[in-house]
Amino acid sequence: DSVITIDPGFKNTGSCESAITFLDGEKGILRYRGYPIEQLAEQATFLEVSYALIFGDLPTTDQLKKFKQDICDQSILDEDVRKIVEAFPKSAHPMGVISSLTSALTAFNPSSVNVNSEEDMYKAIVKILGKFPVLVAWTMRKKQGLPLDYGDCNLGYVENMYKMMFKQPNKEFVTNDIVVEALNKLLILHADHEQNCSTSTVRIAGSSHAGLFASLSAGISALWGPLHGGANQAVLEMLEAIKADGGDTKKYMAKAKDKDDPFRLMGFGHRVYKNFDPRAKIIKKAADEVLNDLGVEDPILAIAKGLEQEALNDPYFVDRKLYPNVDFYSGIIYRAMGIPVEMFTVMFALGRLPGWIAQWREMRLNKEPIGRPRQIYVGKTTRDFVDIDKR
Ligand code: CMC
Repeated sequence: DSVITIDPGFKNTGSCESAITFLDGEKGILRYRGYPIEQLAEQATFLEVSYALIFGDLPTTDQLKKFKQDICDQSILDEDVRKIVEAFPKSAHPMGVISSLTSALTAFNPSSVNVNSEEDMYKAIVKILGKFPVLVAWTMRKKQGLPLDYGDCNLGYVENMYKMMFKQPNKEFVTNDIVVEALNKLLILHADHEQNCSTSTVRIAGSSHAGLFASLSAGISALWGPLHGGANQAVLEMLEAIKADGGDTKKYMAKAKDKDDPFRLMGFGHRVYKNFDPRAKIIKKAADEVLNDLGVEDPILAIAKGLEQEALNDPYFVDRKLYPNVDFYSGIIYRAMGIPVEMFTVMFALGRLPGWIAQWREMRLNKEPIGRPRQIYVGKTTRDFVDIDKR
């Protein structure tokens, strides 16, 4: 008989062997397929990184060209999807909308549900990489009352994303290199992070051989929470609240340390990084650059920096090794780009998409067994049924 050990939050439980992402939390190292995150963020395109995550190596020119074309060919949605988007109330949270739409794609693409061969996997992968950015753009445009348009997939993947999100009716689309470059960087920084909550969800849902889109939809739901991807929205709301409260960072530091107060300093702390989050370093620098380049003065950037300084010098945070994480500064950049706060976690999902796909594909190719943790039962022992009138 095997002995069951309980590990709440799976803090010390490995769920798989993986060749995708390497992470050293003590040293603050993050590499995708061996490529350091710093090099990728500076030099790669998001589509190249997606290819590397999913297939193992950075693509050659020909491989990238084919990949891009295959994605482009799959980027049109069934017109009935438009009706679904239109049926959502404008007030709906975009994460609820995008997870439903991703799930709805299984209905419009039944051939992508039962994927067993590598060839079928490839078809499902390019489909979702083509359609998901359109869903993201439509989710935002629906909220803003803008027409649900397509972009131009002859453009770069990220530039097209920008066009689909921001193109105004009756106006010539003019790209913005600063925004496109910053978006490219942010998406790369979010592209994978080994066995985090949403990725584990994708792998475990997919381990029952549920289709790719259904597994991704499960992952999107897991990402939504404020302890995970939802933190980027929560950070901005927290910084706004501090600003409205006269910029009193000390008050919020005290709240975060108070064990009777459920408030946490959002964008701080990480399950694995106990020294610094390498993504946060890159994002902090990018926030300065982007705001400067766009000529945006956002007072909450100063509040964020002040909060960071205080936390880095406070024994509570130092002792618990709590540092700013990837979400601490990303929202400030998204806002400077003109992306609404409620869309921030959807942007995270867009970035994480290739990581989820890569992890799902690896899990299926490795023929991993169905994910099925055990438990230790602590409920009532056996007792007899009692008629309802005698209870
Ligand atoms: N503010 C105040 N105290 C904190 C914070 C925080 N942000 N994070 C952790 N702590 C304290 C926690 O109360 C505990 O204290 P004690 O030992 O006295 O009980 C100690 O630090 C360890 O925390 P934990 O909750 O056991 O750590 P965890 O590994 O289970 O949680 C975390 C990690 C990221 C969920 C957590 O740090 C947190 O809630 N942070 C705020 C939300 C956030 O920014 N999430 C984004 C994470 S990075 C991107 C992503 O994954 O999507």
